[in-house]
Amino acid sequence: MKVWISQKISKNWREYKRPLGSILHPLVHIGSILPYVVGLWDFWKNNLGANPILEITQRTGRTAIILLMFSLAVSPLRLLLNWPQINKLRRPLGLYAFSYAAVHFSIFIVLDYGFHWQSILQEILNRKFILFGFTAGVILLLLTVTSLTFFLKQLGKRWKKLHRFVYAAGALAGTHFILAVKPGVLRPWYYAAVMFILLAFRFPPVQTWVKKKA
Ligand code: HEM
Repeated sequence: MKVWISQKISKNWREYKRPLGSILHPLVHIGSILPYVVGLWDFWKNNLGANPILEITQRTGRTAIILLMFSLAVSPLRLLLNWPQINKLRRPLGLYAFSYAAVHFSIFIVLDYGFHWQSILQEILNRKFILFGFTAGVILLLLTVTSLTFFLKQLGKRWKKLHRFVYAAGALAGTHFILAVKPGVLRPWYYAAVMFILLAFRFPPVQTWVKKKA
């Protein structure tokens, strides 16, 4: 009976994973654009609380890290569920993550510091959490630029190696989040735990274990 059920499930899964993969593509775009729409709506309606700049900074930062985690989850899910179709989702998720990180950084430069480059540099060098966020942001920028078709062709096999830096960006962004909030606040630790699991999938013994299970 148990074998029959598991055979039935895996047969159904084989049939549905391809169409499900195509449905996920537009859902990724809608879900990633939604935080922009909600943010603009709340801005329009004056719904951003007592400190709108901080609110928008935190919202864009959280959205960036969530989308980054989704993009890092693609490979483990592909292996676990034997679902090659979802590979296509990694690129848009990574690009949307970068777009939120770019808005997050722009708010810091434009609204927090009014393009005062000396103060911005001082903040980056003197405040650890800013330095971690900035380094993560620079890596995401590098990965976004090299995702252009031109660089894909130019870099060839080196492209894959370079794009492994996304894991460093994940670790740095998680640390940035932990250091950005007051000590004792648990929220960033939940994100860090998920990030840790996703990064653990990078290690060859874990990958071998996953491949055996799949
Ligand atoms: C590029 C340079 C970056 C700068 C200058 C920067 C700056 C900031 C600032 C000023 C805050 C608000 C801290 C507070 O609550 O007082 C913040 C929070 C945050 N940032 Fe960044 N950040 C950067 C990059 C990033 C990146 C790349 C990510 C994620 C991919 C990120 C994710 C977050 C998160 C999750 C928070 C906390 C949101 C919350 O409190 O709920 N940041 N950042």
